[in-house]
Amino acid sequence: MRTLEWEDNKLKLIDQTKIPDELSYVYCENYEDVIVAIKDMIVRGAPAIGVAAAFGMALAYLAGEDMEKAAEEIKAARPTAINLFWAVDRVAKSEDPLEEALKMYQEDIDTNLAIGRHGAEIIEDGDTILTHCNAGALACVDYGTALGVVRSAFHQGKDINVICDETRPRGQGARLSVWEMQQEGIPVKLIPDVASGYLMSQYKINKIVIGADRIAKGGVVNKIGSLMVALAANHFHVPFYVAAPLSTFDFEASIFDTEIEERDADEVRYYGGCRICPEGTEVINPAFDIIPKELITGIITEEGIIDPI
Ligand code: MRU
Repeated sequence: MRTLEWEDNKLKLIDQTKIPDELSYVYCENYEDVIVAIKDMIVRGAPAIGVAAAFGMALAYLAGEDMEKAAEEIKAARPTAINLFWAVDRVAKSEDPLEEALKMYQEDIDTNLAIGRHGAEIIEDGDTILTHCNAGALACVDYGTALGVVRSAFHQGKDINVICDETRPRGQGARLSVWEMQQEGIPVKLIPDVASGYLMSQYKINKIVIGADRIAKGGVVNKIGSLMVALAANHFHVPFYVAAPLSTFDFEASIFDTEIEERDADEVRYYGGCRICPEGTEVINPAFDIIPKELITGIITEEGIIDPI
């Protein structure tokens, strides 16, 4: 399954807002379309956002647009995932933006396969693995980071079970990760976000693998809810791993300086189209958590498993 593809000089994206009800596609014909797709979360997940942004730059180049303006506008689409900035800067420096974007597309697939290979080493027969949000094929070009680890262990013949939490408010765990696992016949169960601590206390979860939107000095930024899972895992001594490509790392910055995206209040006020609180309720809706490095067992990269930085 390819989350995004370059087809007839257009960027073809799986519309992730429609999954699991339907598998449909959105075509971006110019860089402005790519910005809308990133803002509206038609394409989401740090690596997929990065590669989509690279093709956005390629579309701007092919249309003879002002590349500096395009770069600035694409970077403003979402503030937290580091891959967005990394990808735009890399394409901006290249001689041929389309060739560079196509290269990054292939690199993303190869990188995830390598993350999967390294990560499978920590997965044992009989493991029940909790994952949060969607760090699967849908968050990348293909295969996935955290779910790439799961896929790889499953294809090695290991007897594993996956638990996905819902990942309120946008439901990436319930809608996307569960769907991905079911497509592939990997045993999966859905839990409410609030249930993971209890299940850890009952020895029902014995490993956690999540993705990352940014890794810097002091820890990891990932989807909101990750910190609660990490704290419970630490308390119950459940190994807590992060799987991410080296393009998600910033070796210079402090993780505590990350700009955390605040999203629309209606994402919290409504669920499945229904209002779940009194009209006009004030909301706080941060999209990401900062997980301090003390809570992280290891980071699975394409070059092997390393300590947090
Ligand atoms: O807001 P999203 O859905 O773009 O969130 C980002 C993520 O997909 C997650 O935080 C994910 O776990 C890491 S990206 C592979």
